[in-house]
Amino acid sequence: MKFKKLTIEDIPEIIRMENTVSGSIYQHNTKEEMVEMISDGLSYGLLINQKMVGFNLAFKATEDVYGIPKDDVIISDATVILEEYRGNSYQFVLHSHRDKKHKRKYVVTKTSPYNLASLKNLLKYGFKIDRLIEKDLSSKNPFPYCEESNKTVGYPTKEPKYLRYLLVFQSSD
Ligand SMILES: CC(C)(COP(=O)(O)OP(=O)(O)OC[C@H]1O[C@@H](n2cnc3c(N)ncnc32)[C@H](O)[C@@H]1OP(=O)(O)O)[C@@H](O)C(=O)NCCC(=O)NCCS
Repeated sequence: MKFKKLTIEDIPEIIRMENTVSGSIYQHNTKEEMVEMISDGLSYGLLINQKMVGFNLAFKATEDVYGIPKDDVIISDATVILEEYRGNSYQFVLHSHRDKKHKRKYVVTKTSPYNLASLKNLLKYGFKIDRLIEKDLSSKNPFPYCEESNKTVGYPTKEPKYLRYLLVFQSSD
């Protein structure tokens, strides 16, 4: 197993992998969004026998996230593992590789409450569910994590002190 820091040359491959996933549980990225994320140097691919079998896209926060200073946060946008390689905790492996290489106090991510495979894996990795957010379907923002762009429908019961935030998005339809 090897890791590859993603570059813009990997984008066609990433798009091919994303296209295997249904849009009902996964928010697809545009090429421009991918270029922007990858240029932050926090995104990795997972190689098995030299084949890329999964990737994680992550980026730096450009503003504070729920009161966490932006320099303390990595935002993990999405992970895809090719279908035939699922069930091996590779999403966990990708998160763990990134977090060892780029230490930050917090990692924030989001997933659909209907995406049980992702939810289970993220909870296993140590994410805590922080809040349930109604997805703003009109937003062009690939990661609308700011409160202004979302209607927050659930709140954490305690002060935010978790290392990893899992924002669960509820589709408004
Ligand atoms: C979500 C995803 C990244 C999880 O990655 P993974 O490395 O397979 O995760 P895990 O191996 O920990 O498996 C998590 C859960 O997936 C399910 N699962 C197991 N094997 C599976 C398989 N062959 N196919 C589909 N789902 C499977 C199980 O419910 C498992 O939970 P369990 O270990 O408690 O039984 C992967 O399923 C995927 O790429 N899905 C499509 C894209 C997506 O939804 N990405 C997340 C949104 S950001």
